[in-house]
Amino acid sequence: MDNNKIIDGKFISNQIREKIKFFGNKLIEKTGKKPGLAVVLVGENPASRVYVKNKIEKTNEVGFNSIEHRLDENVSEEKLLDLVNLLNNDSNVQGILVQLPLPKHIDSDKVLDTILPVKDVDGFHAENVGKLWSGLNSLVPCTPLGCSILLKKISPDLSGKKAVIIGRSNIVGKPMASLLLSMNATVTIAHSRTKNIEQLVKSADVLVAAVGIPEMVKGDWIKENAIVIDVGINRIEREGKRVLVGDVDYEECLNNASKITPVPGGVGPMTIACLLLNTLLTSYLQFNEDPIELSSFLE
Ligand code: GUN
Repeated sequence: MDNNKIIDGKFISNQIREKIKFFGNKLIEKTGKKPGLAVVLVGENPASRVYVKNKIEKTNEVGFNSIEHRLDENVSEEKLLDLVNLLNNDSNVQGILVQLPLPKHIDSDKVLDTILPVKDVDGFHAENVGKLWSGLNSLVPCTPLGCSILLKKISPDLSGKKAVIIGRSNIVGKPMASLLLSMNATVTIAHSRTKNIEQLVKSADVLVAAVGIPEMVKGDWIKENAIVIDVGINRIEREGKRVLVGDVDYEECLNNASKITPVPGGVGPMTIACLLLNTLLTSYLQFNEDPIELSSFLE
């Protein structure tokens, strides 16, 4: 196996979290206030429970406060909105994350748009989405932000390069398109209604797979020397064991790719690092301190 090809998201995210801890401690020393991240989990979705547990663990590790709220699957939308408003008004809370998906009886957009934009560490509020697409300073969704940091380390300018994203979600696909545009790539979003995805992927210099279909992308779909970013986290059964696989067939795609993220250990840990980065940024804003440049985290 060619180790030079592997984008080690685990290692890079460890470095970023160390820096967050360093800058966070300086902020705490200067202001006497500790950044606080509130995480709201509704219901018992097993994948969401694992993500939330990891987020809380890592929040505490960098020296921030984590505030966990677990609500019953059947909680009313009104009760959830009341909680978000309570957190909006809580000076010990600098970041609010409502884990998605929410149960069907709750209007997710309404909940996300109730979070104060300055506490919106997920970057899902319409104000932050609009700012991102307008090229203004904004909070950027954690997973695409993590992918863009990995990409910037490999190739900061994608002028003349074709990027293909598979998946059009608000969480990954759409914000990823905006970030790739800002890196000067020519961007296409493919989705479930796209015809001949294979042919499209074969033209990509940069592929971001965020579709949620285990190992959908095959080795011979990858253009020679393409960069492959795999956002998928799929739990499947293989040879009687539960294993995690991405949206690309890693072993196959390793061949043609110049760089590729593994699953696990690629994009996943970057998402959490970027959540903490966003929490640090919102804390600077709320404590009226000048933020450090994002570029400090690319070194
Ligand atoms: N569910 C899957 N990914 C995410 C994410 O980045 N943020 C939130 N809030 N929920 C998610």
